[in-house]
Amino acid sequence: MSEHRSVWLLDRDGPSYSAWSGATRADVVVAGAGITGLTAAVLLQRAGADVVVVEAGRIAEGTTGGTTGKVTSQHGLIYHQMIERRGESIARSYAEANQRAIADVVSLVDESGSDCGLERASAFVYALTDDEAADLEQEHTAAQRLGLPARLIRDTGLPFAVTGALEFTAQAYFHPVRYCDALARSLVAGGGRIFEQSRVHGVDEDDDGVEISGDEGSVRAEHAILATLIPFVDRGGFWLKTRPWRGYGIGARLRAAPPDGMFISAGAPTRSLRPWREGGDTGVIIVGEGHETGDEAATPARWGELERWANENFEVESFDYRWSAQDYATADGIPYIGRSPLTKRTMVATGFRKWGLSNGTAAARMLTDLVMAGDRPVPDGFDAGRIGGPAAITSLIAGNVKVAGKLIGDRVGRLTVADADELGSGQGGIVKEQGETVAGYRDPSGDLHTLSPTCTHLGCTLHFNAAETTWDCPCHGSRFDIDGSVLNGPATKPLEHRGAQ
Ligand SMILES: Cc1cc2nc3c(=O)[nH]c(=O)nc-3n(C[C@H](O)[C@H](O)[C@H](O)COP(=O)(O)OP(=O)(O)OC[C@H]3O[C@@H](n4cnc5c(N)ncnc54)[C@H](O)[C@@H]3O)c2cc1C
Ligand code: FES
Repeated sequence: MSEHRSVWLLDRDGPSYSAWSGATRADVVVAGAGITGLTAAVLLQRAGADVVVVEAGRIAEGTTGGTTGKVTSQHGLIYHQMIERRGESIARSYAEANQRAIADVVSLVDESGSDCGLERASAFVYALTDDEAADLEQEHTAAQRLGLPARLIRDTGLPFAVTGALEFTAQAYFHPVRYCDALARSLVAGGGRIFEQSRVHGVDEDDDGVEISGDEGSVRAEHAILATLIPFVDRGGFWLKTRPWRGYGIGARLRAAPPDGMFISAGAPTRSLRPWREGGDTGVIIVGEGHETGDEAATPARWGELERWANENFEVESFDYRWSAQDYATADGIPYIGRSPLTKRTMVATGFRKWGLSNGTAAARMLTDLVMAGDRPVPDGFDAGRIGGPAAITSLIAGNVKVAGKLIGDRVGRLTVADADELGSGQGGIVKEQGETVAGYRDPSGDLHTLSPTCTHLGCTLHFNAAETTWDCPCHGSRFDIDGSVLNGPATKPLEHRGAQ
């Protein structure tokens, strides 16, 4: 079982809520209590709705609990390309929605009395080569056209030389879990209800309402919002239209003050960093080493690379945290937000491309408007039913050819797997045990844990994640613990145990 809790979760206190039991009713039911679901719940309550939130685990312990904690409209170098591919009007609506999200976060912190340590600061993309500096100039022109608070600078305060940087002023960073805890408290204080440890399996609509249900409970409502990172029921093709990506984070205590502001590299490998203060000590959070889930090896060496980079560039006192997290990317880089195609009462928000603190907050506002104001459409470009431009279609086809290859190729590969006896301590893989192909993991005490190797979502073969000691699905990103329980959807059912444990 993974022991890698993020800097935000390791010593967590915060509120906890009981599991659902039996049937209940509300105006709106929200599945998923990350930043998207909790923000939507609070905004809907303020607009007059009775809201119930249903969370499979604990609130804010999904991707929101594994983020870098930057709240910014600067999402790497995106605006020049977005204007080229989707046009200026859509790029403007993306920029405005994310700028508005920063303002919404600031207001919600004030109003909820959150102790999330929100700081207003600049966000910088830095260049290390002349080519990257030229990219910054293009991006600067695009950002200015869209009205973003952007300027080109040379002096970043980073402890290494750069060829330039693009600064967005008046952005923010915070402690994402404390922020969500305050949202949850405010929701409950206003009469809203939250159920934890309550996984939703089904969503059923009829003319009068929508019902979400799981093993132990159900909620009937006028509208349902699926804020579960990726919808676990798919009437809108979201499993085909997104790709799951993992990213790795470390917390490093420094001997000197960290650089002032948030930073991300313009080129590869991506390095994203921000200051971090805890108990009087100062440090940095560094995130990078992203890869498609189940596609490339997920090993502890990922954190090793980040630590090596930190040691090269900072006076590191100690490395105190290692974790990883997952998000979904859409082909055109813009999230899918709105009414799920082929439904009347089910709303979705997914595909935040590792920028869901702002995009998820923006989604919450859009979905609140959609639910409370009837047919008010989501802003240009976000529509959950779209496919995107020609470049997006090409990328979608490539992604799905890869998934088809995994479905077929990995099953053929199962015919030639090694014997479980060959697994060393701490190793996992698809192996033969007593004539059966299983997902096998040998723990440090030498015991073998065997599970079905087939993802309970749509049947792809799982890959062992050696960094987190989990089973990850390369098709749509479901993840399972070594006891078989679901860690990440879209799967909702655990893996079956195989053989003697
Ligand atoms: C390494 C990394 C760094 C990042 N850094 C940043 C950053 O600095 N700034 C930024 O803006 N974004 C960042 N992101 C992205 C951002 O963290 C996410 O996009 C955002 O947290 C998504 O929030 P969410 O509420 O939609 O999803 P989650 O936080 O994942 O919440 C979804 C919730 O739904 C629950 N759930 C799932 N299935 C079910 C079910 N069937 N029934 C009930 N509940 C269910 C889950 O348990 C979970 O709690 C980063 C992402 C990664 C991977
Ligand atoms: S996540 Fe879809 S098959 Fe595994």
